[in-house]
Amino acid sequence: MQDQITIAKKAAGEKAAEFIRPGMVVGLGTGSTAYWAIQKIGAMVQQGLDIKGIATSEASAQLAKELGIPLTSFAETQRLDMDIDGADEVSERLDVIKGGGGALLREKIVAFHSKQLIIIADEHKYVPTLGNFPLAVEVIPFGWEVTNSKLQTLGCVPTLRKKQQEIFITDNGNYIIDCAFGKIENPQQVHNALHNIPGIVETGLFVQMAHTVVLGYEDGSTKVL
Ligand code: 5RP
Repeated sequence: MQDQITIAKKAAGEKAAEFIRPGMVVGLGTGSTAYWAIQKIGAMVQQGLDIKGIATSEASAQLAKELGIPLTSFAETQRLDMDIDGADEVSERLDVIKGGGGALLREKIVAFHSKQLIIIADEHKYVPTLGNFPLAVEVIPFGWEVTNSKLQTLGCVPTLRKKQQEIFITDNGNYIIDCAFGKIENPQQVHNALHNIPGIVETGLFVQMAHTVVLGYEDGSTKVL
C-alpha cells in the first residue's frame, strides 16, 4: 500500500505528464516525485507517443532507459519544449528550492533551456517563504574548505553533504554544501551573493523559473498554480 506522501507525489507527477504533447522534447527531473512523471511518460511512449527526454541526472537517465523513453542531448536539441521536475520547497511567488537529491546543476541547465518548467511537489512543500529546507549549493572540490568558510559570512550554517560517512559526489564530480539560511526573504539576492563566491558552481534557488506548479495532495487530488 502507498503512503499518503507517495500518493501526493504520484498525483502531481502524473498530472504534469498530461501537459506533454506528441513530438515534444521533455526534461526528465530527478527525485521521488519526478519518478512518477517519468513512469507516466514511459507509459505514454509505450502507447506509441513520440516523446524524447533529456535527463537531469544519471539516475533519471537510467530510469528512462529501463522504461524505453528515447533520450536525446544538447548536442542534438538546443531547446526543450517542457521540463518536469520536483522541488524541496515552493513559495507562494513560485520561487523554488531544489537540490535535495543533489542534481541541481543539471536540473538548472535543463530548466533554463526549456520553454516551460513545470514543478511538481506534494502539498507539504508549498510554503509562504523559502528557507526552512537547507539550500543546496554545488561547489568545486578544490578549496571547498574556504568556500565553506565564505558561505558562513553570508549568514547561513553550511554543512558538507555526506552519504554513508563519505563525501557526496554529484554527477558532475563536485561537492554539495547544504546551507541553512532560515527564512530567505529575497531569493534573487541570496542567489546573486552566492554566485559571487568563486568555487560555487550553482545554487538550488530557482528564482522565477517555474511557469507552472502542480501540487499533489494526500487524497490524490491536484492543484495547478
Ligand atoms: C533533486 C531535486 C529534487 O527534485 C528534490 O530534491 C525533490 O525530491 P523529491 O521529489 O524526492 O522529494 O531537486 O536534486
